[in-house]
Amino acid sequence: MRATVSARVAVIGGDGIGPEVIAVAADVLTAAAHRHGLDIALDWWELSADRYLRDGIAITDEERDCLIRDYDAALLGALGDPRVPDHAHIRDILLGLRFHADLYVNFRPCKLLIPALSPLRDPDPATDIVFFRENTEGLYTGLGGRFKAGTTEEVATQESLNTYHGVERIVRAAFEHAAATGRGRVTLVDKANALVHEGALWRRVFAEVGAGFPDIAQDAMYVDAMAMDLVRRPERYEVVVTSNLFGDILSDLGAQVTGGLGLAPSGNINPGTWALFEPVHGSAPDIAGQGIANPLAAVGCVALALAHLEMNQAAADVDECIVASIREGVATPDLGGSATTSVVGDWMAARLRD
Ligand code: NAD
Ligand code: IPM
Ligand code: MN
Repeated sequence: MRATVSARVAVIGGDGIGPEVIAVAADVLTAAAHRHGLDIALDWWELSADRYLRDGIAITDEERDCLIRDYDAALLGALGDPRVPDHAHIRDILLGLRFHADLYVNFRPCKLLIPALSPLRDPDPATDIVFFRENTEGLYTGLGGRFKAGTTEEVATQESLNTYHGVERIVRAAFEHAAATGRGRVTLVDKANALVHEGALWRRVFAEVGAGFPDIAQDAMYVDAMAMDLVRRPERYEVVVTSNLFGDILSDLGAQVTGGLGLAPSGNINPGTWALFEPVHGSAPDIAGQGIANPLAAVGCVALALAHLEMNQAAADVDECIVASIREGVATPDLGGSATTSVVGDWMAARLRD
């Protein structure tokens, strides 16, 4: 007899292609739950530029508290809309949830599922990198400001906040993940030759925490050289730990060398508590509304969410289904196919229900 496990998941479409890919993710989650006898309740939340422009508020404090308190996890499509040029709703919803729920791990796996997906000439089929991006500090806290804004004397500052506590917990999470999954190397990425203050803190903490993991190879790369090396020999990297902004940039690069943004999922995680899963990609206004967005990054988020909920067999089935859809050629144009977003979704949901 299969165990019935239950969970409550909030589903947020967001903007642009967000609602298109998250509709597929919800169908796949429902199908995977059905297959495994899991009781997963999905609630749809309208948090988007449309809602912000209509109501003048992106998310209330009560809504944020409710999401974090009453749900086991959330799935988010993407946020970003040209009608909100100051990105206020992204700050309040996405960054707001990251800060309020203290989602300090931004977990971004970039695995080359099929060698032909790589844009590189001679890719190593074993390429499989996980980025541990610090998600609550660095240049993202909003510290700083503008002086004499709008004049020719304007001054703008943006401060990078780095605490021992914040650095220690993300570095430890990276090492613990490496140890738990048998990965042999953890690489710190920073810019310690120029950003000397934060660099010194990250290097000290990396050495201190790393001393507890003597069986794991450890090295540090400057972010400029790392950008180069992720193209030259991405297979060298197994676990990468880095600051908020560098992790944002490098995870787009890591996604591209393993098949593109259409495939890259991510988890914003407070280990042991709440998590928000979202594709690495954004709202892609250039292709929104055309039905051609690749839903696989969002489906990959479903697999990450199921694993977070300890529904591991269902997570493995969803991952398997992603690879199968590509192998069968049921793929969107970014992967060289001609399927629409919903055709890919229907194919996956049917396969999981079989
Ligand atoms: P983007 O990731 O939206 O798009 C970059 C390029 O990749 C575009 O050419 C787009 O068409 C393509 N692309 C992205 N996802 C795809 C998919 N699933 N299938 C096929 N092609 C895909 O980045 P951008 O254009 O810099 O940002 C657009 C908006 O999204 C901005 O407002 C930005 O702030 C926001 N954004 C939000 C998130 C998020 O919500 N997590 C992440 C990144 C960017
Ligand atoms: C991401 C996005 C966000 C980030 C933006 C939309 C604020 O690019 O999740 O990668 O920079 O964290
Ligand atoms: Mn990003």
